[in-house]
Amino acid sequence: MYTDFLELVKRRQSCRDFNDKPLDSKVVETIAETAMLAPSACNSQPWRMYLVTNEETVKKVTIAVQERGHNKFASGAKAYIVVCDKQATLRPGTESKFDRNHFVKYDVGELIAYITLTAESMGVASCILGWINYAELKQAVCHADDEVCNIVVALGYTDTPIRAKVRKAKAEIIKKV
Ligand SMILES: Cc1cc2nc3c(=O)[nH]c(=O)nc-3n(C[C@H](O)[C@H](O)[C@H](O)COP(=O)(O)O)c2cc1C
Repeated sequence: MYTDFLELVKRRQSCRDFNDKPLDSKVVETIAETAMLAPSACNSQPWRMYLVTNEETVKKVTIAVQERGHNKFASGAKAYIVVCDKQATLRPGTESKFDRNHFVKYDVGELIAYITLTAESMGVASCILGWINYAELKQAVCHADDEVCNIVVALGYTDTPIRAKVRKAKAEIIKKV
């Protein structure tokens, strides 16, 4: 029984209060390398991660996630992992039943979960950011035209204590059938 993992899941929370401690780019790389172990439909791995660790590009990505006054706390982020969706290549039998990109959102969700939980396991705080100015983000990371970047994960350190989780009632989410 991996009791530490249960603790890790409980500890992971969205960080909106990064402190000034710098984040080593090697730590960001380890987080991304570990996240590569995430599962995906037919092992298609329809994703790419752009690691943003240099100060100039971090500033550009910060602007891209702060459109219309959103995500002000991102000014404290020390690095970002910009996650892009890519076209999936499924096994032939699977591709004849489903649209080839049917599973991409689920796959990328797995990747993001792996990123945030790996970060937490290394003592690195994270916040998933979906509010993005796509044109500014593309300018910042120069991602390929066939990639769609819908999610950015902000990374850094924090002194904020663990909050109580706010979740819907168990009976609303979990049904025994
Ligand atoms: C797809 C996605 C997009 C999100 N976008 C943002 C965002 O733009 N800004 C933000 O502050 N939090 C964002 N979040 C974080 C959620 O608000 C947060 O996960 C949720 O409120 C639960 O809180 P917790 O992560 O602390 O457990 C996003 C989360 C997900 C999964």
